[in-house]
Amino acid sequence: MAPLHFPPGFTWGTATAAHQIEGANVHSDGWALEYLPDRAGGFREPSGDAIDSYHRYGEDIGLIAGLGLNAYRFSVEWARIEPEPGVISVAALDHYKRVAEACREAGLSPMVTLHHFTSPLWLALAGGWNAPDAGKRFADYAARVARHIGPLAQWWCTINELNIVEMFANAGSEAGRRARFTARGRAALAKQFGSENAERFSSLFFNQGEMGARMREGHQLAVKALRAETKAPIGLTIAMQDIQALRGGEDQAAAARAKTQDQYLDVAGADDFVGVQTYSRELYDENGRARPLEGAELTQMGYEFYPEALGATVRHAASRTGKPILVTENGIGTDDDARRIAYTQTALEGLHAVMQDGVDVRGYFHWSAFDNFEWSLGYEKTFGLIAVDRTTFKRTPKPSASFYGTIAKANQIQSA
Ligand code: BGC
Repeated sequence: MAPLHFPPGFTWGTATAAHQIEGANVHSDGWALEYLPDRAGGFREPSGDAIDSYHRYGEDIGLIAGLGLNAYRFSVEWARIEPEPGVISVAALDHYKRVAEACREAGLSPMVTLHHFTSPLWLALAGGWNAPDAGKRFADYAARVARHIGPLAQWWCTINELNIVEMFANAGSEAGRRARFTARGRAALAKQFGSENAERFSSLFFNQGEMGARMREGHQLAVKALRAETKAPIGLTIAMQDIQALRGGEDQAAAARAKTQDQYLDVAGADDFVGVQTYSRELYDENGRARPLEGAELTQMGYEFYPEALGATVRHAASRTGKPILVTENGIGTDDDARRIAYTQTALEGLHAVMQDGVDVRGYFHWSAFDNFEWSLGYEKTFGLIAVDRTTFKRTPKPSASFYGTIAKANQIQSA
């Protein structure tokens, strides 16, 4: 297949999130749920040491740069930076500053995400994103981080997948599963933290309630606060699967798009870019969400292998918002690395085609740099370009890493 020529200056990156790679994120809501007795918090296994990237970030950044990429998206952990309300850990801020510096030294432009699913436990116990002052607290924290990391960051992302609450609610049987573990989880939380705290407890992993509106507000407050601290581009990211209608499902598909994507894209008005995160497609028939078509290839996650989704979602995000697009996540959970190569190739072809049509796309971040902690599903799902032995922490790049790195390098040479 002919080489893909992307425009000069296109960003070639890969992404991670703090809780999924760092280890020992002990002040977070995620950690509290993972370690409830009898797995009552709904996690298959706890995150533990993860891949110990908190200590091994230098090696990790070196590996990513060594592939030939020029950007790294990572997240900073609110629970480490503000482990108790109003208590700021300068040591934690310094840590992330060193991570950003290490990126710069290695030739990687850092994209810093301020919230990637986890929150401090104290916030969850006070109602999480349902707490009336959550948005303000988030904005204060965001400004504090920006003041510390300063111009080292090339881009800022406020909230990862601002629409995640809607995605969970839309997941059909997943919603049912959550409803079932709520009572048991709530009882375990009451035992651990007292019944009043347990009653209020709210996180993105557990009884999300009506957090969507508060999170949209949190994003907007954070953008304002960040503007006072930084000139770097600021945006949010949205989980966007390609929503398609089967015959008779047009109304259902349109309703799903409006509810799960568009009302979140519409808050990007004051932003500089939109981060699109796409993994697959969603089909709708007259009854709502439909199963993948008979015979479809499924990924480890149980959804369809459908890399063509990326072009469609990027097109939709750009036309709805009029903003430049960065693909902040795209990838596949698979133990067959040849399928990761095929997926990435097709996704990039789709992206390239959309750009040929004039859509303004500035970069692509593959999810993920490393096999890591896939939230409630634990370590079994493997999205990484680089494998990690979790007993020795040895990193081993997969063939897909050099495949993707080769495309990135060829495009940078061509644009140099
Ligand atoms: C999230 C990641 C997650 C990935 C793969 C995205 O929705 O931002 O944290 O690991 O999907 O499931």
